[in-house]
Amino acid sequence: MKDYKRILVSAALPYANGPIHIGHLAGCYIPADIYVRYQRAQKRDVKFVGGSDEHGVPITIRAMKEGVSPQQIVDKYHALIKDGFEKIGISFDIYSRTSNPIHHKTAADFFKNLYDKGLFEEKETEQYYDEKAGVFLADRYITGTCPICGNPNAYGDQCEKCGSSLSPEQLIDPRSTLSDAVPVKKWTKHWYFPLQHYEPWLKEWLLEGHKEWKHNVYGQCKSWIDNGLQSRAMTRDSSWGIKVPLPDAEGKVLYVWFDAPIGYISATKELTGLWADYWCSEDTKLVHFIGKDNIVFHCIIFPAMLKAHGNFVLPDNVPANEFLNIEGEKVSTSRNWAVWVHEYVKDFPGCEDVLRYVLCANAPETKDNDFTWKDFQDRNNNELVAIFGNFVNRSLVLIHKLCGGKVPRFHNEIIDADDKQLMDEIRAAKDKVTQSIEEYRFREALYEVIDLSRKGNQYLQKKEPWKKAGVENGQQQIDNCIHLSLQLTANLAILIHPFLPGTADKIRHMLKVVERMLEWKNAGSFKLLSVGYSLRAPELLFRKIEDSEIAAQVEKLRSNAIEAAKDKDQKVAGKTADTTEEWPPLKPRIVYDDFAKMDLRTGKILHAEKVEKADKLLKLEIDLGSEKRTIVSGIALHFNAEDIIGKQVVVVTNLAPRKMRGIESNGMILMAEDKQGRLHFVNTESDIAPGAGVS
Ligand code: MF3
Ligand code: ZN
Repeated sequence: MKDYKRILVSAALPYANGPIHIGHLAGCYIPADIYVRYQRAQKRDVKFVGGSDEHGVPITIRAMKEGVSPQQIVDKYHALIKDGFEKIGISFDIYSRTSNPIHHKTAADFFKNLYDKGLFEEKETEQYYDEKAGVFLADRYITGTCPICGNPNAYGDQCEKCGSSLSPEQLIDPRSTLSDAVPVKKWTKHWYFPLQHYEPWLKEWLLEGHKEWKHNVYGQCKSWIDNGLQSRAMTRDSSWGIKVPLPDAEGKVLYVWFDAPIGYISATKELTGLWADYWCSEDTKLVHFIGKDNIVFHCIIFPAMLKAHGNFVLPDNVPANEFLNIEGEKVSTSRNWAVWVHEYVKDFPGCEDVLRYVLCANAPETKDNDFTWKDFQDRNNNELVAIFGNFVNRSLVLIHKLCGGKVPRFHNEIIDADDKQLMDEIRAAKDKVTQSIEEYRFREALYEVIDLSRKGNQYLQKKEPWKKAGVENGQQQIDNCIHLSLQLTANLAILIHPFLPGTADKIRHMLKVVERMLEWKNAGSFKLLSVGYSLRAPELLFRKIEDSEIAAQVEKLRSNAIEAAKDKDQKVAGKTADTTEEWPPLKPRIVYDDFAKMDLRTGKILHAEKVEKADKLLKLEIDLGSEKRTIVSGIALHFNAEDIIGKQVVVVTNLAPRKMRGIESNGMILMAEDKQGRLHFVNTESDIAPGAGVS
């Protein structure tokens, strides 16, 4: 491994067209923050840069729809996003924004540098234009009828019903999604960056030189490169963005993905006069933390731009995470299926570290992962409260009970195998945590820390210092046990600090030690607290999270989604439909016999109740005429149990039984899902007796 002098860490610049949700945090901000806090504790020269991405088409469209200026949009969301990051403890050295003049200049100069070297291709093409809205239309903003399957809501780049990829010319009866106008063609000139020229270099630098990158990242890059790279337009027709710094470029701005990553450079400039040390020197380790949808931009396009420019360091690693789903469903901002950071901090004041914990312990490091409120509660109650918090609390309670609140001395003459083992475990844990963080495996690192506190509990349990008063050597045994437990507590503060900074500070306060104690080099030491030192009274690090709080969050998710769907319905009625979501594609064709195997019948819901500890499940009792069935159905986020009693349903009766949460489910009820993701019962027109066959 190379010996670096300094480390520059970036986290993706979020678009300032909406607030941030926990998927953003889990994807890149929490891991970046852990990494940076760890490097600071190592006393390394590290800088952490970020900011809002304030250009791009979605921002202008949002402004148009809300009838305000793009500036108003980005001002609003920049403030909201920045505040959210602060509250959850993302410790940027600078959180900037791409509308700052210093960024405009840096990005324009970058473009000019490549232009002057003759690296761009200038091309005139005919593009669709919306005369009513006065803007050129990206393919995605044109809809029309699919020439292949007849879907009336196909996009200019793809039909989501039949899966065909399309170009706008192929659409029958094309319309602008912005104004409903018929798009017209207009000639326009743009500057293209010929990525294909960098292919040999990318193969060498990335595919040969960075085999150590995470599999998900490396794999995506490889398939991009293997599929052949093409020129990409680095400019757009728009009035919002960074003006193309050329005389003949009226109405042209830099493509948002050209300017945004340069934002990392601008932010560093804004942060320090020594910015060039970080950007223009080979002994800087540059690390980009991003979500998986940003991989190609950070691993291929931006590095090729940096290479073309020639003055800048290239990323050493791009540890991208996958996506975090919520309660089994993809996060969707338009369906409002998300847990918003600014709402979380309001709903759970003082529990910022709990969210950090859950998002790291369950981070989508190697594959998409699911966040559920139940898991959030379990991890808080069973891990933070019952293991880590419990150990720290016990050692502090015991020092006050058994040692007068002062750090007892350690009697070397009676050290035993358990003491030695605990000390070994502390040293080993430090090594493992260190290595895991260095290699971007934060889940694993955090697990080690919690596991170490579990070992602390086992040690106390075995030693039972509370039973030692009065026995031979009793006080000495108590002293040793408490002394070591406290040294472990101090070690835990150091090791947990990058992950849960607030928690580390609370421990530090109780131990009355200065911030310097949290330096990484101190981990593994057993001399962190001096003998005779008096400590503060213990206070609990974490509180239990109640079932009712979890139920309230699940209900909030559900009602937000319903509200969003209603809004959308109104918009559809008002004909400014947001057509970004589509019907799922049809499944492959089957023969009649496949269908005939199913036994479908009408039934009636006799009884419904929530399944305990499963947010999505209802246990239904169904009357099928000839018999009654228990069926567990995943509809609890959509219906209240009491509202559906008496409903007529269609049941698949001959499905093999399945156990869900310990309940055997015998069959399935049919539901229809509308565009907004709401469920509806599949009913017969009139009320018929349960048991009628459906075919
Ligand atoms: N705004 C982009 C997104 O949210 C990320 C930009 S990262 C940058 O997907 F570095 F390029 F700015
Ligand atoms: Zn189609």
